[in-house]
Amino acid sequence: MNFVDYNLVCNICKKKYNSNYNSQICTSCDGILEVVYPKGASFPEKMKTLWDFESNMPRSHYIHYELGNTKVINYDKNTFLKLEFYNPTKSFKDRGSVIEIAKALEYRYGEIVCASTGNMAYSLAYYAKLANLKVRVFISKNANKDKIRYIKEVHDATITKVDGDFTLAQSEALKYSYKNGAFLTGDYCYRKEGQRSVAYEIAYQINNVERIISPIGNATLFSALYKAFVELKNANKIKNIPKMIGIEAQKCAPIARSFNKKTLTYVKPNTDADAIAVGMPTYGMEAIEAIKNSNGDILTVSESELYSEQNNFYKKYGIIVELGGIASLAGYKKIITKDKNTVILLTGGNV
Ligand SMILES: Cc1ncc(COP(=O)(O)O)c(C=O)c1O
Repeated sequence: MNFVDYNLVCNICKKKYNSNYNSQICTSCDGILEVVYPKGASFPEKMKTLWDFESNMPRSHYIHYELGNTKVINYDKNTFLKLEFYNPTKSFKDRGSVIEIAKALEYRYGEIVCASTGNMAYSLAYYAKLANLKVRVFISKNANKDKIRYIKEVHDATITKVDGDFTLAQSEALKYSYKNGAFLTGDYCYRKEGQRSVAYEIAYQINNVERIISPIGNATLFSALYKAFVELKNANKIKNIPKMIGIEAQKCAPIARSFNKKTLTYVKPNTDADAIAVGMPTYGMEAIEAIKNSNGDILTVSESELYSEQNNFYKKYGIIVELGGIASLAGYKKIITKDKNTVILLTGGNV
């Protein structure tokens, strides 16, 4: 029994599945599935822990780890920073990983496989180890060396380096899952659902948020945030959906480049912000829709803006935030209207 009734629908061919279906990929067309809640989302009066949102999470296993409830601090007058690097593996990824691991256990898999730019695999491998699952990771040979070492040495994952970028790693992971019967995890529907909790927490922590600024890589986080704000609005928990502002690295900006086109154009990633070096974002079109529907914007930041913001933040707070995680703050500096109630997501701190 799941905590909440849900169905799955393919975002390409619209084929429907019930919650017993044990994959995140459509059998007919390899499209990715979306979780749909026929009865909508429900929210508590007050939030004490992340698990107060359990009723909105599509899972049956009740495994509680210490994560989420990350701090929000005041940055300037009406601007706040949501500090996602305080999660156990130092990024927001933990919120999605626990849902994916719960599903792997529910469907009785012994192994999970994922493609990653680093943080996702680090997070998945951490929780998979706690759950006694084997982990296979496909990662670009150009990914951050320290992250690769950690995933392998500390969290016992088996790593396959691919001679290409994240997009190639994704297709290798898919092939591996079919061939070896491993549960395909990563930037798919269950992770997206888990990551909605960032928006839920923000809505309970800050009143009347008018603007959200978030880095974009594969756009799973961004589309999760938007989905959650729509749910919160439908449940009358917030008055308005905040303007969704996405930040990409100038040297890898497929969404900014494709913003007014019908399809996404692949961009070869060439940025030091490894966490957001994704040339063909899986949830790219959804991110564009979220930006348009919320009257938001997409901005890009240069490598020097990223490094200089990383340095400014370190000088002010004594904490090093990775380039992909600080992109949102670097983007905020380019916004002229500073008078809106704004929450900036600092998404990760693995350096
Ligand atoms: C620290 C950090 N920030 C932002 C992102 C981008 O998130 P998404 O790929 O969901 O857009 C990632 C993804 O790996 C990340 O690790």
